[in-house]
Amino acid sequence: MKYDVADLSLAPQGKKRILWADNDMPVLASIRKRFAKTRPLMGKNVSACLHITAETANLARTLKAAGANVVLCASNPLSTQDDVAASLVKDFKIPVFAICGENRSTYYKHINAAIDHKPVITFDDGADLVNEMHARKIKDNHRIIASMEETTTGVIRLRALANAGKLRFPVIAVNDAASKHLFDNRYGTGQSTVDGIIRATDFLMAGTKIVVAGYGWCGRGFAMRARGMGAIVIVTEVDHIKAIEATMDGFEVMPMAKAAKAGSVFVTLTGNKNVIRAEHFRVMKDRAIVANSGHFNVEIDIPALKKMSKKINRNVRNHVDEYVLKNNKRIYLLAEGRLINLAAAEGHPASVMDMSFATQAMEAEYVVKNRGKLTVAVHDVPVEIEQQVCRLKLNSMSIKIDTLTSEQVKYLASSGEGT
Ligand SMILES: NC(=O)c1ccc[n+]([C@@H]2O[C@H](COP(=O)([O-])OP(=O)(O)OC[C@H]3O[C@@H](n4cnc5c(N)ncnc54)[C@H](O)[C@@H]3O)[C@@H](O)[C@H]2O)c1
Repeated sequence: MKYDVADLSLAPQGKKRILWADNDMPVLASIRKRFAKTRPLMGKNVSACLHITAETANLARTLKAAGANVVLCASNPLSTQDDVAASLVKDFKIPVFAICGENRSTYYKHINAAIDHKPVITFDDGADLVNEMHARKIKDNHRIIASMEETTTGVIRLRALANAGKLRFPVIAVNDAASKHLFDNRYGTGQSTVDGIIRATDFLMAGTKIVVAGYGWCGRGFAMRARGMGAIVIVTEVDHIKAIEATMDGFEVMPMAKAAKAGSVFVTLTGNKNVIRAEHFRVMKDRAIVANSGHFNVEIDIPALKKMSKKINRNVRNHVDEYVLKNNKRIYLLAEGRLINLAAAEGHPASVMDMSFATQAMEAEYVVKNRGKLTVAVHDVPVEIEQQVCRLKLNSMSIKIDTLTSEQVKYLASSGEGT
């Protein structure tokens, strides 16, 4: 078995983490149990380019239980949990190509190892795998049944590929499923971004002015949780609707040019590039903290920050680099501008990834059942899968809900009754 992980001796600790997370992933566990009997992915080669975390390990175990030959590579150079990667290889016999802190060339070498596995189903978080498959123009593209995309930025990239007429196989926008983004992006990113920033800096949130760039699903989640910890939250946006929503949710909304002067901590969650740039760094307070929780490390203009600095003190604390500007002000950049929740903390809690990865697993079963019927386009997850995942999650929480009476079903389908 070929693999490339940091250190196999870390496996015992990784196994503990995987099993601990599994306790909080009852929906995925129930799907795994079913898959072990029905084997819906029997003999299928599957490559998954995802954050190599304990939760992803449990998804990989589920795909393997379904009969798939699974290979994993990282979807971010800094998010791999090396002990989990070791355990996947040693204890679960799942090949992994991922090392925390790998450079760009190793990152792409690992993605290419996943492509060499000749997958018929792929999973992506940010579309680097699918993009590389298209760039390599591999002959096997026609064999791909479908590719699943986990995050907003990946879906945006894939839609751009489809709009340019360059997409070569069906992809599924798993991120856009209600059972994914409503919970994962909002509550998962919300909590774990707070966790990552606190672990990296140990600063007190109460009374601190935090600027949140982007009031989408992730931004809303983080703003809500930061306020819950007592922070004074300012939101920046480019979308009029989101800006009103943030205002009516009780946050102060202003342009970044103004927010840059007011805030002490800045967090980008936009999926866009250069949201914080030179003109903003220039007016920030001394010792401002800047972090990103959007998918790529492009939201903060790090090259501009480097250019403006007379000195960079690396690792003044784990995950903290100190940039000393020419005007002597210090800016602290966290985790090299990469996803702070995965780089400095453990990513989303398992309980929320349970829903995301249950959606992924059920969608994999669905695309195999519908092999050949899916057009080469970006598809949504069928609403039945979203409903099923939410139903199983509620069951696991012992929460029961009402059902429509037949009178109500009839009423909702009629236009007759009015004032
Ligand atoms: N950290 C994680 O673990 C994690 C988890 C899920 C998603 N993500 C990533 O987070 C990013 C945001 O995802 P989302 O689901 O919240 O997307 P979204 O589309 O719901 O929200 C993005 C928001 O950013 C706003 N925006 C765009 N450019 C901006 C700018 N220059 N200034 C201010 N606001 C701007 C948009 O108007 C939008 O409201 C994506 O890159 C996504 O892939 C990260």
